[in-house]
Amino acid sequence: MATRETWTTRAGFILAAVGSAVGLGNIWRFPFQTSANGGAAFLVVYLFAVLLIGIPVLLGEFVIGRRANTSAIGAFKKLNHPAWWVVGALGIVASFWTLSYYSVIGGWVIRYIGGSITGAALAAPEGYFGAISVGSSSVITHVVFMAITVGVVALGIEDGIELATKVMVPAIVILLVGLAIFAATLPGAGEGYAFFLEPDLNAIVSNAGTVLPAAFGQAFFSLSVGFSVMITYASYLGEDDSLLADGVTIGIANTAIGVIAGLVVLPLLFAQGVSASTSGPGAVFVSIPTAMANLPGGDIVGQIVGIVFFGVVLIAALSSSISLLEAAVAFLVDNYGFLRGRTAATLGGVAFVLGIPSAWDTAWLSWFDGVGVSLLLPLTVLGVVVFVGWVLGEDAVAEFRTGSSADSLATVWLWGLRTVILAVVVVVVVLNFRDLFLTPEAGDYFIIPGPLR
Ligand code: PFF
Repeated sequence: MATRETWTTRAGFILAAVGSAVGLGNIWRFPFQTSANGGAAFLVVYLFAVLLIGIPVLLGEFVIGRRANTSAIGAFKKLNHPAWWVVGALGIVASFWTLSYYSVIGGWVIRYIGGSITGAALAAPEGYFGAISVGSSSVITHVVFMAITVGVVALGIEDGIELATKVMVPAIVILLVGLAIFAATLPGAGEGYAFFLEPDLNAIVSNAGTVLPAAFGQAFFSLSVGFSVMITYASYLGEDDSLLADGVTIGIANTAIGVIAGLVVLPLLFAQGVSASTSGPGAVFVSIPTAMANLPGGDIVGQIVGIVFFGVVLIAALSSSISLLEAAVAFLVDNYGFLRGRTAATLGGVAFVLGIPSAWDTAWLSWFDGVGVSLLLPLTVLGVVVFVGWVLGEDAVAEFRTGSSADSLATVWLWGLRTVILAVVVVVVVLNFRDLFLTPEAGDYFIIPGPLR
């Protein structure tokens, strides 16, 4: 078998991981989760979840991946704990599951770039979304997005993922900052900032049972932890990297880019008097074009902003979807010596088929997203936390220290995982399970999707 690839540079790994983290989660999922869970109050819990829980778990995945030097399922076996491969497998199931509907939304984004060029997406946003987000039209764009994802993964680490994300991530940052500066010039932008930046802490306390699991789910989804993806990416790392420095850089970059995305979206909506509380997966696709349609300067300004905005979203979505596919591809390539190109194409095909219900009807998409984020994801995160904290234990500390000078932090991190973080994740799992069995209200996720109940 050919020797295993590695990232050519440390920056290559960081950019690929940031590319995985920054995606539809920041731009599509975050706004409607925020408006469904109390606005800025949700943001506070989310930030807390990212910094105190998400980043330490991310470091745990890095430790597993780099120490084992192989993809997720094999990694648990190789670290001499055979039964724990189940956690790696659950993560791969979660990433594959997510890829199936992520690609559907990616397909809508491709369509919206076209719709911005012709102006059709801005002329009648609600009707446009209704027409392109379901049925055969959505299946076709789903295929296109999946094919691009397969193409990048088939090229491998160095010539595919690393090269692509080296271009994509800087492009995301430059274009988003440009859009945020543009949004700041709009009259009325101030109200948008206020909505984002003035939390109502009472809202957190009185709705803790729903806000907490939603915010933690969003934090894990956004950091790409609990999907075996970061284990896989770290398995291509050399020994001389500081995992701590890399993990913190990635966590902060992801959060900063998410906040900048908020500073684009919210002023735009408020300046144009568009409600930010449109709920469900269509939120960004209806409210943003509505706001773009009436920008000062006329249709052409709206179209240009539309092309740039959806262009950024597309790049962000692709740099994430490639990581979702890579988790499963790396497993088959590492363990069975399968050819990368064929494996990527076959698995992309299977994920495409799994995504057809989501492409056909958005109720299925909400269901896939709900089951993935409320069920698979917290369980995998729980498995990772127990494994790193209590099974790897001192070995995890040794790996954490390799390439890093932060000696005492390693122990604090381990004990954090063993105690507080474990306790919080258990609470999140319990709250999510409880939610699954409560009577759903209209629009809520439930184990059985709305129209099928
Ligand atoms: N973090 C990505 C986002 O926020 O859009 C989604 C994602 C990518 C989740 C890769 C998980 C993953 F492994």
